Amino acid sequence: MATTATQEQDFSRLPEMPAEVFTAPLQRPGHLGEDWLEPKQTEYDSDDDAIWDDLFARQMEVLPGRAASAFLAGLDKLDLGRGGVPDFAAMSEDLGKLTGWSVVPVPMLIPDHVFFWHLANRRFPAGNFIRTRETFDYIQEPDVFHDVFGHVPMLTDPTFADYMQEYGKAGWKAMRYNRLKALGALYWYTVEFGLIEEADGIKAYGAGILSGPTEVVYATQAKSPNRIILNVDRVMRTDYVISDLQPTYFVIESFEDLYRQTVERDFDRLYRNLPPAFTYANSAVIDVDNVVNRGTQEYLLRGGRGSGAKPV
Ligand SMILES: [Fe+2]
Repeated sequence: MATTATQEQDFSRLPEMPAEVFTAPLQRPGHLGEDWLEPKQTEYDSDDDAIWDDLFARQMEVLPGRAASAFLAGLDKLDLGRGGVPDFAAMSEDLGKLTGWSVVPVPMLIPDHVFFWHLANRRFPAGNFIRTRETFDYIQEPDVFHDVFGHVPMLTDPTFADYMQEYGKAGWKAMRYNRLKALGALYWYTVEFGLIEEADGIKAYGAGILSGPTEVVYATQAKSPNRIILNVDRVMRTDYVISDLQPTYFVIESFEDLYRQTVERDFDRLYRNLPPAFTYANSAVIDVDNVVNRGTQEYLLRGGRGSGAKPV
């Protein structure tokens, strides 16, 4: 493993992944190249644009006072509420002027090492499809609303934008150590479900929270979930829930702190010491935790999604 620690990675091209590194067996559509990028964004019709507008309006009823100020500022800077699904090219031009990021269209899920490669080059891959009226409230796979409304505003924040790039750079190393689950937990508890402490309370900056109406309220205000100050080591050992509200959220003090914790951490050393499976259950509170609120876990104990339990 010594070579993994010392290798300087060239991020200008896709890496050679050794045969023992697992990458999901996704079938690349014939018209796409190695980068998995669609030649252009889908052309949406007026129904699609109306779905975007309705989703946007629904979120704006719950986000003020609950979403991180950096997120709300990003929505404004990019004018994402101007009507209809945003045009990626125009949005990328605005975003590029702010932080050097762009948004690129991909068919759906793409292989991990390709995803990391785009992030390492400040390209955010966004799904092209938009949900239907039938799947308006809950979708399994991220659509353009989740990807663009949820993720892109945070990329206007210079420090968070740098964090996302560092995350991408960290990806290939995690794959070579076979510790992708651990790095995935860091993404989950920050980029998707992160909370931040602001002067007037706890706010959400994670896209998984901000792109749906229920979790925005639950994550910031409900009694059920734990809210714990983020520690990168601890988070990377913690299991998470994929298809329900989280039993635990991790809170950062600032984006600078998140960036510093991640960049300064010696991931080689961490991966060598991490067991392949998660150590902590997703609802656990452990001795070393700096706890903001210890949750009642009532929602989870009553059965969570599908049981009719209220997200209290
Ligand atoms: Fe996401």
